[in-house]
Amino acid sequence: MTGPLLLAIETSCDETGVALVEDGRRIHANVVASQVALHAGSGGVVPELAARAHLRWILPALDDAMTGAGATWADIDGIAVTRGPGLIGSLLVGINVARTLAWIHGKPLVGVNHLEGHVYAAWLLDRGEPEHAPPPLPLVALVVSGGHTFLVEMRAEREYRLLGETVDDAAGEAFDKVGRLLGLGYPGGPAVSKAAEGATRRDLAFPRAWLGDSYDFSFSGLKTAARRRVGAARAEEGIADDPAAPLSEAMVAELAWGFQDAVVDVLATKAMRAAMATRARALILGGGVAANGALRARLADDAAAHGLPLIVPRPGLCTDNGAMIGAAGHVRFNTAGSPESDLVARPSLPLARA
Ligand code: KG4
Ligand code: ZN
Repeated sequence: MTGPLLLAIETSCDETGVALVEDGRRIHANVVASQVALHAGSGGVVPELAARAHLRWILPALDDAMTGAGATWADIDGIAVTRGPGLIGSLLVGINVARTLAWIHGKPLVGVNHLEGHVYAAWLLDRGEPEHAPPPLPLVALVVSGGHTFLVEMRAEREYRLLGETVDDAAGEAFDKVGRLLGLGYPGGPAVSKAAEGATRRDLAFPRAWLGDSYDFSFSGLKTAARRRVGAARAEEGIADDPAAPLSEAMVAELAWGFQDAVVDVLATKAMRAAMATRARALILGGGVAANGALRARLADDAAAHGLPLIVPRPGLCTDNGAMIGAAGHVRFNTAGSPESDLVARPSLPLARA
């Protein structure tokens, strides 16, 4: 592979990501400075603290990425940076660092949609990974993160048609809230998933919001059901009057399993239906919740049963990282020079409209 080498910067939420990606696919470095410990105490991302932490870690992450890749500025052909959606203070740190570096080193700069990054993570190749064909088009992508949950059809590069999206909470947000209800700490997603693995009783049915034939999602009812069930479980274990007393490990596992099973069932069913209905040649799964083992396993089974190729990046490329911005940035870098408006932070930038 001998395509352009992009420096990619991601600071939309709570991970400071700096990566070097060649030709939109090959990862030469992918440094992620996580803020999980910083926000654990409050149980969620504190925007002001996130922005300050990006400021603290972005230059060390840049140094690590350049050193790790053994690259110098002469090797870099351009810079890609997330311009939205995300937290305004966090986005501004990445954009201003990218602008400054582009000016100092005389490199072209391209603004990238974070959600497009989650889709393009499926194009990435790790260092040393044998090269294989890029995802075939047309395809359907299910993106499930802490802030977004949607299904999109991609007929050509950069052409998206929104099939459906959440009408209330994102799937990751529901995982985080239920994790908190179960006393599992932050972020809830990985913790709920781990707890669910330990469940011996696996028959607790949580409600599924199918919303008719649509490809939309709703997770707020599920969250309410989880709250009710946790209350009932606390009464059953005789700790209803003591908010500090934890539920038994077995009960937490059982509830985590039931909740996760409902989320996975709806996500997988709708994604498969969308892929079949649009005659997609592949299904892509992306976003932080795509790191979930149960969702990956369920979709792998369903896709295999229908002979549909499923492309799921390894978990570290599903959660926020710079490499995915380098992959998405490459497409834009190749097609057009970046208009100045691309480089303004857009906290509510959409990927596609219906
Ligand atoms: O894509 P991401 O890293 O950041 C956003 O753009 O939002 O997604 C973070 C979300 C969090 O809600 C987190 O709890 C969830 O992804 N998550 C998971 C897992 N790993 C991360 N949810 C379920 N199972 C997991 N293993
Ligand atoms: Zn994300």
